[in-house]
Amino acid sequence: MRIENTKLMEAFADLGVEHRSGISLRKHTSLGIGGDTDLLLVRRHRSLPELLRLLAQEGIEHRFLGGGSNVLVMDGELPWVMIQRAAKGEAVRLDGPCAFVDAAADLGRTVTFCAKNNLGGMEGLIGVPGSVGGALRMNAGAYGTQIGPCVREVEVYRAATGSIETLRGQEIHFDYRHTSFAPGDIMMAVKLELLPRPYAEIIQGIRVCNEKRRASQPLNQKSAGCIFKNPPGASAGRMIDELGLKGHRAGGACVSERHANFFINQGSASCADMLALIADVRERVRCQFGVELENEVVVWKT
Ligand code: EPU
Repeated sequence: MRIENTKLMEAFADLGVEHRSGISLRKHTSLGIGGDTDLLLVRRHRSLPELLRLLAQEGIEHRFLGGGSNVLVMDGELPWVMIQRAAKGEAVRLDGPCAFVDAAADLGRTVTFCAKNNLGGMEGLIGVPGSVGGALRMNAGAYGTQIGPCVREVEVYRAATGSIETLRGQEIHFDYRHTSFAPGDIMMAVKLELLPRPYAEIIQGIRVCNEKRRASQPLNQKSAGCIFKNPPGASAGRMIDELGLKGHRAGGACVSERHANFFINQGSASCADMLALIADVRERVRCQFGVELENEVVVWKT
């Protein structure tokens, strides 16, 4: 989707929105897959409702891109513009045990910044790629930690009302890799309550998680993390591994040799390759174990 309407481009500039024409989602997603479109980078977060109103008025569809680490995007010319928020200079502000974090901030850097200020409780989230906003939306978790329990308040653009609202933690339902946010909601900022602890203790926890992750996950390859959610009481990775599917492929998409719930783009994988591999593995797991695996990765296609 290309925006060539000069009036609209002037309106973007007035709103402090940077318009980047013809970007490739291959360069904006950890899977390195996806077609081309325009990117609107929002620098003043209060201008988001007006930007979305303008796009709706022009009949331009949009998708909101966080860190791009958990999404599989279709190839070709995309029918939506991408909206992304630029993190502000100072992404985290601390007040006692609480951290006020811009949703566009990088999750790992936020965990480390808080640790350096003797605030822990998020050690398990180190190494989870993506933005704080993406982690919030999915209730990201690892090594026994989920972001949900730390959340005290979320500032969110609500698609239903077209305005920015502040929700209290108790108003949001956090479940395994699921939250009660509506699909069009956009995370703006979050207040987290953390655990005051000496840095040395926190960093020790961080090191342990880093080591576990390095030993079991293909961190330097193009992936979207785990492709499937774990079914209750089971591990999707273990089931796929038990079927002998490590290294199994469809075109340029391949089941990781290191962790079977990570599917790798070996360089030239298309979205269709990745979808074919997902469908094939899901079917084999269904036949063998009678379990219907649910995607954890978010798929953007028409
Ligand atoms: N296993 C295998 N073969 C594999 C992969 C795993 O046998 O190829 C076995 C492991 O040996 C272990 C069990 O399965 O006994 C569980 O494996 P692991 O500890 O790696 O955890 P997981 O259930 O596969 C989950 C999350 C990860 C998170 C880790 C660590 C999901 C879908 N995955 O993986 O999150 O990092 O625990 O807490 O919930 C993600 O969400 O993208 C993600 C990577």
